[in-house]
Amino acid sequence: MFKVIFENIGEYKKYAILSPIFVLLEVATNVAITFYMTKIIDLGIMEGSTDGVLKYGILLLILAAVSLATGITSGYLATKASAGLSKNMRYSMFKNITNFSFENIEKFKRGSLITRMTTDVQMVQMAFQLSTRMAIRAPLTLIMALIMSARLSKELVPNFFIIMVIIAIGMSFIITHAYPIFEIVFKTTDKLNTDVSENLAAIRVVKSFVKEDKEINKFDEIAENLQNYYMKASKLLAMSNPLMNFCTYLMVLLVAWFGAHLIVGGSMTTGALTGIITYAIQIQVSLMMLSMILVQITIARNSLNRINEVIATKPSIKSPKDATFEIKDGSVSFEDVSFSYVDDMDKCALKDINLKINSGDYVGIIGPTGSAKSTLVNLIARLYDTDSGVVKVGGIDVKEYDLKSLRDAVSVVLQKNQLFTGTVRDNLLWANEDLCDDDLKRALYIASCDDFLDPDTDLDKKVQAGGSNFSGGQKQRLCIARAILKDPKILILDDSTSALDNQTETKIMNAITKFRPNMTKILISQKIKSLKNTDYTIVLDNGVIENIGTHEELLQKSDIYSEINGVQEKDSDFDA
Ligand SMILES: Nc1ncnc2c1ncn2[C@@H]1O[C@H](COP(=O)(O)OP(=O)(O)O)[C@@H](O)[C@H]1O
Ligand SMILES: [Mg+2]
Repeated sequence: MFKVIFENIGEYKKYAILSPIFVLLEVATNVAITFYMTKIIDLGIMEGSTDGVLKYGILLLILAAVSLATGITSGYLATKASAGLSKNMRYSMFKNITNFSFENIEKFKRGSLITRMTTDVQMVQMAFQLSTRMAIRAPLTLIMALIMSARLSKELVPNFFIIMVIIAIGMSFIITHAYPIFEIVFKTTDKLNTDVSENLAAIRVVKSFVKEDKEINKFDEIAENLQNYYMKASKLLAMSNPLMNFCTYLMVLLVAWFGAHLIVGGSMTTGALTGIITYAIQIQVSLMMLSMILVQITIARNSLNRINEVIATKPSIKSPKDATFEIKDGSVSFEDVSFSYVDDMDKCALKDINLKINSGDYVGIIGPTGSAKSTLVNLIARLYDTDSGVVKVGGIDVKEYDLKSLRDAVSVVLQKNQLFTGTVRDNLLWANEDLCDDDLKRALYIASCDDFLDPDTDLDKKVQAGGSNFSGGQKQRLCIARAILKDPKILILDDSTSALDNQTETKIMNAITKFRPNMTKILISQKIKSLKNTDYTIVLDNGVIENIGTHEELLQKSDIYSEINGVQEKDSDFDA
């Protein structure tokens, strides 16, 4: 588990090593300070030597300055090391997440990935910072103080061990009970984050269905759960304070009681007792630090596991070793393909699909919602892997291609279009950084974006987060323009012309056919009028191909197609 730390400390390793070294110096100086304190009392004050007081006074002053300087330096180095570790861990996670397949992301859930990148990293950072400063300091102070006090009086040392046993028992009770609660706290935080991110992404839906109250209640419940668990864990941890206080008083009491007897008996000096009490407090403080570290590590251990899960997860889809980079043409074939989102093969989304699409074909896909239209096309860009059977592009199994090359060649405009904050130009350049403005303008014309922006002057127009300052149809057209700019061999429009009127849609498809005649075009649409212009259309029903044919053929042989056609003709009669 601590492997994550070793692997991610990277260039900050030197700070993580230097910090404890300065801690070592600080501890040594502090012990020396206490040692010379006893000297100043016994030799200087008790014997009335001004010279002695002055000599040890100056020495103590210098030691105090050294202690301060080493303390500040070790703190600075520890902060630098822990903040650097955080940065590297976040980078490692983010880098791996960007390579995640859809399947990986669905397994983790978005909210959980957010918690892991924020709260969990913060927990580890805090624990690491505390540990680099205290993990050496506390035991070292403890041992040194024990040795030094044994030198002053052996008789009093057993008292310290009694206290240590009490603390060990108390703390192990607290920690073993707090750990499982923290596990729940983090899982609940995941839920909260998932809920918030889902709600923000779908805020328009929430508002349009006037579901604000319902969502607030749902959120409230999770937030309250979180509060309760947190309180429960905190209450447990808070018990360490009274425990420590009790032990401090008990220790001072024991040492003072037995020490006073020794002084009366003449076997110990007053200076030595003052020294021992100071050491006792140092022992107490270091025990307190140790338990604090233990608590922090308890919390961080869980977080470290969760971070490790993200970093160690292998993307379920990745390029093969001897990958093929060249995609010959835009032909697609499915050979006995079955696919299921869940392990249960009885719940297949796609069953025994056999299909052949020639390069340059203009293909339509239609079918009821949930009939696996999106699933079918997602397999072409290898957004998911088949469970059985082979999907080929350009005559070669998609699993043999370099992923980037394949996805550059297969451009999918997904059902949910996404634009990013920036300008129109920024968004279009996502396709390819090297494109010039003329290329961008041409794509805007092909995708009929000139209806709502002037390609010559509006490339710098701002796009707000998610493209919220554009209408659905405008967003769809910008996404189509971006997809065309990749100059793919296969262009897939997954319901991405749904918000366009027939005329605009036909105009776009005609322009694409004219300017990119060799590109394979796959149009998923619910509109028969759009599909009329395709070379042929595939009718899907519940994960199987019901029929394939031209508009006229399908009207004859496909029940689903002719039924949809009937409904839409009636609607258009009604509109007219
Ligand atoms: N990410 C997913 N996880 C689990 N099941 C899914 C997922 N996406 C789609 N499905 C299921 O697979 C089936 C086909 O979905 P989809 O391909 O999106 O249909 P369509 O695009 O035709 O509406 C549906 O039953 C749907 O519930
Ligand atoms: Mg779909």
